Amino acid sequence: MKDKFSVCIVGGGSRYTPDLLKELVAVKKEFPLYRVSLYDNDEERQAKVGEYGKLLFEQFYPECEFLYTLSPEEAFKDIDFAFMQIRAGGLKMREKDEKIALKHGCIGQETCGPGGFAYGLRSIPAVCDIIKDIRKYSKEAWVLNYSNPAAIVAEATKRVFPGDYRIINICDQPIGQVMFYEILLGLPAGSIEATYFGLNHFGWFTHLYDKKTGKDYLPEVREILKKGIDFDPESIGLDQSHMNDLIFMSNIVRDYDEYLPNTYLQYYLYPNRIVKGMNPDYTRANEVMDGNEKEVFAMLEEVKKTGKLDFDGSKELLDVHGSYITDLAKAIAYNTHETFIFMTENHGIIPNLTEGMMVEVLSRVGSSGIEPFNYGEIPTFYKGILENQFAYEKLAVDACLEGSYQKALMALVLNRCVNDTDKAKELLDDYMEANKGYWPELR
Ligand code: NAD
Ligand code: G6P
Ligand code: MN
Repeated sequence: MKDKFSVCIVGGGSRYTPDLLKELVAVKKEFPLYRVSLYDNDEERQAKVGEYGKLLFEQFYPECEFLYTLSPEEAFKDIDFAFMQIRAGGLKMREKDEKIALKHGCIGQETCGPGGFAYGLRSIPAVCDIIKDIRKYSKEAWVLNYSNPAAIVAEATKRVFPGDYRIINICDQPIGQVMFYEILLGLPAGSIEATYFGLNHFGWFTHLYDKKTGKDYLPEVREILKKGIDFDPESIGLDQSHMNDLIFMSNIVRDYDEYLPNTYLQYYLYPNRIVKGMNPDYTRANEVMDGNEKEVFAMLEEVKKTGKLDFDGSKELLDVHGSYITDLAKAIAYNTHETFIFMTENHGIIPNLTEGMMVEVLSRVGSSGIEPFNYGEIPTFYKGILENQFAYEKLAVDACLEGSYQKALMALVLNRCVNDTDKAKELLDDYMEANKGYWPELR
């Protein structure tokens, strides 16, 4: 085992990077680093975060080298971990993804429905090109990838880098929901170990075990949700939209008599109701650009002006996005075999689902990689809806890797938020036009 590690944050200009850097600083005793690099392809955007990082590291982590760069070689040489969070096309293209879908009466969302499909076809080439570069300069680095739409990206990286078990695609949604359940139950953070099955942004919690006693809190949480919940989002560090997603779970548990849904299932199980509530002229991308993105970059500007950091070195108030990926890196670095909910290839984990499907399930993690727990067979409804979603995701990846219009069309028709061939063709026309230069050519 090494005593110090080197981390590269890919997507250095991400609005999540400042908090992630603070997280790395806050855990420097448990996870000591000798080098942190930021890599991005947008010089101006990354420099704003990079200058903030320089100040932060000068003040709180002078023993660790910090740099930001546009050079893959400088960024990726001899790294132990790449933390990836890129957004191919940026929030401007996310806005198009969402608005084009809504124009055709479909869910307009970052990772689900036709918007997620459009984003997938931009994200796959971008993510794979970067991983190829990482492999050129660091053959054994762990690539911990948040870049969305994670389900489709995971299916693609599995195929483009077969057997490369050091690429791990992750999502902070399950851990975020578990933390919310802990709040509902009045339990300290980290008390629960959840079992879960499904695809990314398309799965169900099946047990919420107390880590100490083994008590299953899931029935209790279902009862709380059935009655309905009301929270001030700010009191738990969320914005109103994310709060609304959690509130909507009440509808799902009233309609389905088992498990707890990933909140993203609302888009697939209630597409008509959700579309009616969406504003085609002002989508989540607009909320993020006018809200969190503005706040983060205003903070960076303020720090630059005053030279005063917004941070005292402690972990307090840092969000789960940064701690989750850092906890994962620690589990790998120190071979802890802790449990996480991850995307991994289905080899008998859920025997009545397709072999090789990238399922999301409870797994252990150590220095030799991911070791999923077997889940067992799932009931007909879940099998049916998951196989349908997987077929959509697989065809989306086929369309991208083969440049196939036919597969793109089939993928969209299978998507529960589309369903109709004429609508799928209209969507494809608009998305192909909007994504010139990002998508592979579809023929
Ligand atoms: P953002 O646009 O603020 O930041 C992304 C950064 O990536 C930008 O600085 C951009 O310049 C850079 N970038 C884009 N394409 C690149 C390329 N080809 N090479 C190098 N850099 C590139 O986006 P964000 O809102 O911070 O989100 C970042 C990513 O993390 C998104 O994909 C988002 O969906 C994902 N995310 C995933 C989860 C999850 O649960 N899996 C959670 C949060 C965020
Ligand atoms: C959750 C999901 C992510 C998503 C994120 C931010 O954490 O798991 O996949 O990217 O929410 O969504 P937002 O709409 O705030 O950008
Ligand atoms: Mn996610």
